[in-house]
Amino acid sequence: MSIEVLTAEHVAFRYAGTPVLHDVSLRVEAASMVVVTGANGSGKSTLLHLLAGVEEPTSGSIRRRTGCRLALLPQRTSGIDALPLTVAECVQIGRFTPWRRLGRSDRAAVATIMERLDLGPLAHRRLRELSGGQRQRALLAQTLVQVADIYVLDEPTVALDAASRLHVHELLAERVRAGAAVIFASHDTTDATLADRTVRLAGITGGTLLAT
Ligand SMILES: Nc1ncnc2c1ncn2[C@@H]1O[C@H](COP(=O)(O)OP(=O)(O)OP(=O)(O)O)[C@@H](O)[C@H]1O
Ligand SMILES: [Mg+2]
Repeated sequence: MSIEVLTAEHVAFRYAGTPVLHDVSLRVEAASMVVVTGANGSGKSTLLHLLAGVEEPTSGSIRRRTGCRLALLPQRTSGIDALPLTVAECVQIGRFTPWRRLGRSDRAAVATIMERLDLGPLAHRRLRELSGGQRQRALLAQTLVQVADIYVLDEPTVALDAASRLHVHELLAERVRAGAAVIFASHDTTDATLADRTVRLAGITGGTLLAT
């Protein structure tokens, strides 16, 4: 039996009166991978922000299954460069909670994800001194080290070389096999081959098209 973890029903969204999404409906199940595609400006990031609860729909509803934890990797992450963080600290942030110190299992999870994303040699480098792909791997590690039922990732592989992209595909497929839902935006056709379901946003001028 499939468990629905996120549901969007007849969602519309406007930025200051400019319509971006119209009548978007989507069901996301546990242990499934959904890839959101569409041209620049078609509303992929907007849809992911709505699904993650960062923005509220102008009309329609977004429902998350009670108790489901969500981790988000936004497309724009330049704000974090203002902090003098090392790669290791950036990844550790993914396990921070206000009520306790990082424990042994947190440190093990940080070490594992850093190894999987080949971040060991970069552990003590400042985030803002990295190449685009290295930086993207560090931010991916920060997101994937989180314990979540739903991972929402906005173009997570855009800066990655072929080998790193493959590692990320393996990591995401593992999360899905372990029962998580993964929703990610991408322009890349190899990313789309991972999907159980593809959602294509056609943009508001042509009406928002959802293909499954
Ligand atoms: N903060 C904002 N204020 C006003 N308009 C915005 C804002 N953010 C995005 N938009 C507009 O909303 C539309 C959808 O933007 P969005 O970022 O969701 O597209 P996208 O599909 O993610 O594009 P890309 O492939 O370039 O990442 C675009 O027309 C964009 O100009
Ligand atoms: Mg976007």
